[in-house]
Amino acid sequence: MPTPVLYCRDPLSPRRVDEHFAREAQEVRARGGAVGLVDHDALLKGDAEQAVAHVPAGLGSVWYRGWMIPGDRYVALAEALSRRGTALLVTPDQYRAAHELPGWYEMFVDITPASVWRPTRPGEILAAEDLADLAEPLLPGSGIVKDYVKSRKHEWEQACFIPDLADWAGLTRVVQRFVELQEEFLAGGIVLRSFETFSKLESVAAEVRVWWLDSEPRLFTPHPDSPFERGLVPDLDHIRPGVQSLGCRFVTTDVALRSDGVWRVVEVGDGQVSDLHPSSNRGEFAALLVGL
Ligand SMILES: Nc1ncnc2c1ncn2[C@@H]1O[C@H](COP(=O)(O)OP(=O)(O)O)[C@@H](O)[C@H]1O
Ligand SMILES: [Mg+2]
Repeated sequence: MPTPVLYCRDPLSPRRVDEHFAREAQEVRARGGAVGLVDHDALLKGDAEQAVAHVPAGLGSVWYRGWMIPGDRYVALAEALSRRGTALLVTPDQYRAAHELPGWYEMFVDITPASVWRPTRPGEILAAEDLADLAEPLLPGSGIVKDYVKSRKHEWEQACFIPDLADWAGLTRVVQRFVELQEEFLAGGIVLRSFETFSKLESVAAEVRVWWLDSEPRLFTPHPDSPFERGLVPDLDHIRPGVQSLGCRFVTTDVALRSDGVWRVVEVGDGQVSDLHPSSNRGEFAALLVGL
């Protein structure tokens, strides 16, 4: 039986799949996969029952595909679905492990930039001394700041890149700006990472997204922000054990070639909420989801 998939509904046209995922959902249907609709807005507002009100009862085991969901909201989604006889193929613990850096870091520690973190609430400003303590294990060098899930890479100078982690004033300024701009969406806490120099194609980091299903690399796509439709083919032998020990069924790893020729894992993600590059073949992806 093709595996059913739950997509986010279109907020303006609630009987349809959100436009961003519509092509993919169409390909799932074309392969016999049932498609259910989840109300992402209701889920984030705290009404999980409403979010799944239009999911057909007794769908069995399903994938979710859509916008990112905070870890606690994913728990609520799983519970509301189970009351309707539907189970997510990725459990809440697995989702969190792949989605948040502290969940996957240990498994990839030798092949990802060194990182430290501290849980914080949205808007919470850490004192300069606390940030300096946090950064201490990464010294000397430059770094980047992000939360457990996302960076503000498009505001690189003011809210992402830290030229010198030993410079308290600079470190505090960039982290504070990051916290301000994340507003209430700051996920989990503050992460600081050692900066590594990655190879660039025409001045853009050549990141490749590898999609792993049951610890097998099944698809390679350019990073969603990449201006290139084809990426390099990464060397995965040293990455596979990390994916295996993470133990999640559907995972992405964003890998980049460091300037010394070593493939590094920049980020791990849950495959259900990782974005596809606009050029990626939705049919091939849908076939993976429905299991044909
Ligand atoms: N430790 C690092 N060293 C160098 N560049 C980095 C590092 N971490 C992130 N970057 C760059 O910043 C971008 C965004 O970081 P990432 O961790 O992928 O956050 P996001 O979730 O916002 O995509 C990456 O695609 C990479 O180009
Ligand atoms: Mg990324």
